[in-house]
Amino acid sequence: LGTGGGANQETESSAGGLLTSELALPAPFTAPLPVPPVLRPTRSDADTDYYEITQRVGEQEILPGLRTRVWGYDGTFPGPTIESRRGRRTVVRHRNELPVPVVVHLHGGRTPPEHDGYPTDVIAPGGTRDYAYPLDQPSATLWYHDHRMDFTGPQVYRGLAGFHLVRDDVEQALGLPAGDRDVPLMIADRAFAADGSLRYPSLDPSLTGQPGVTAEHMSGVLGDCVLVNGAPWPVLEVTNTRYRFRLLNASNARRYRLALDPPPPRGPAFTQIGSDQGLLAAPVGHDALHLAQAERFDVVVDFSGYPLGQRVTLVNQLGRGGTAQVMRFVVARRGTDDSRVPAKLAEVEPLTRAQAVVEREFTFQRGGGAAHHGVTPWTVNGQPFHPDHLAAEPALGTVELWRLRAQNVPHPIHIHLAPFQVLNPGRYATGWKDTVDLGSGDEAEVLLRFDGYRGKYVFHCHNLEHEDMMMMANFQVR
Ligand code: C2O
Ligand code: CU
Repeated sequence: LGTGGGANQETESSAGGLLTSELALPAPFTAPLPVPPVLRPTRSDADTDYYEITQRVGEQEILPGLRTRVWGYDGTFPGPTIESRRGRRTVVRHRNELPVPVVVHLHGGRTPPEHDGYPTDVIAPGGTRDYAYPLDQPSATLWYHDHRMDFTGPQVYRGLAGFHLVRDDVEQALGLPAGDRDVPLMIADRAFAADGSLRYPSLDPSLTGQPGVTAEHMSGVLGDCVLVNGAPWPVLEVTNTRYRFRLLNASNARRYRLALDPPPPRGPAFTQIGSDQGLLAAPVGHDALHLAQAERFDVVVDFSGYPLGQRVTLVNQLGRGGTAQVMRFVVARRGTDDSRVPAKLAEVEPLTRAQAVVEREFTFQRGGGAAHHGVTPWTVNGQPFHPDHLAAEPALGTVELWRLRAQNVPHPIHIHLAPFQVLNPGRYATGWKDTVDLGSGDEAEVLLRFDGYRGKYVFHCHNLEHEDMMMMANFQVR
């Protein structure tokens, strides 16, 4: 059994500053798990499905009896789930009714640069924009979220995140758990003010134009309340069958090491079937999963070994107190199960070091650049983000080896457009990823494939406060 992902056992202080809620948080495992609705296309033609989303202020009951104001896709957090079929173009018209500029990025999408949500390519308040996604890529759990330069942290924290699932024939033929037994789980920590509003340590960026995070919290904003699909420590009643869970860590700065308590009497807690960019070649069993910001683990949990009535808690071994728990499953009923987890899932062509035509090194650290709004920035090779600076110019159709290094604190590194395989460390098993977590002092070697589109894209730390404090760089595919 592997342990899935990075092994760094960080403390809260190395990840960032903990914000404490100013009110009594609800008892865990009382709120039913919400599942975001699947958005219906407004129309479809021969090869394209068209959707519309309005970004607006919404109010929702996150804590019992209180209204929390969110910035949401269609006014909700999480936003609606979009489901696309591989190879069918998906066009999403975003209308911005928020008081601030926004940028939409489809995380994990292989998208032409003009639709990728470049951090300065904003939709002004009152504006509308069509994002066109070819989605000519294997089935995967993608997600969409805000990506505005300097303000991604606060804008995602206020609610701008949703799932975008890609489905294909390969996945459909496998017989994996489906329907209401295929459940996306967006895990995100938050803290609340006394009136139920979301606490984020910034001046209101819509009023000041200042970066969305204060110096005190530039290492990352952590909350004391764990939300899944927007509900605090929710509970899901399940039948004694297999379920597919698409785990996404949408937190700004918090990592999780997930396990089941009690573990199932036989077999691993989690059978991983997919990674960030889609299905693995073969399933991998894990007793615990290390989930860094923006990573996805597509897993099957088999509840058939538990007695009826069993409560099974999804715990976070990196948390303390409230953050040591995530949600609960209750094995409430008997169910029939004809789902399977085949021993062979998908074709995953392994990249080899010999295919790499270029090697590059990038160090993610604090400092090395001029102060940004009065604070020492986080940098990539000593460079704070600048839209005009190119850190790499890979050639279209090639494979490159990038050596990524993290200094000072852990950094989860996300690269747009180009899926990659992790050569070292080997704990990432198989599969295509778009985000790799590095512990402080760690180095990873990844093999990237630059296919699809020419143009300028970003890569960055997905600790959103590090990203907002300049830990981002450009590559231009030639
Ligand atoms: Cu999930 Cu560049 O972002
Ligand atoms: Cu970082």
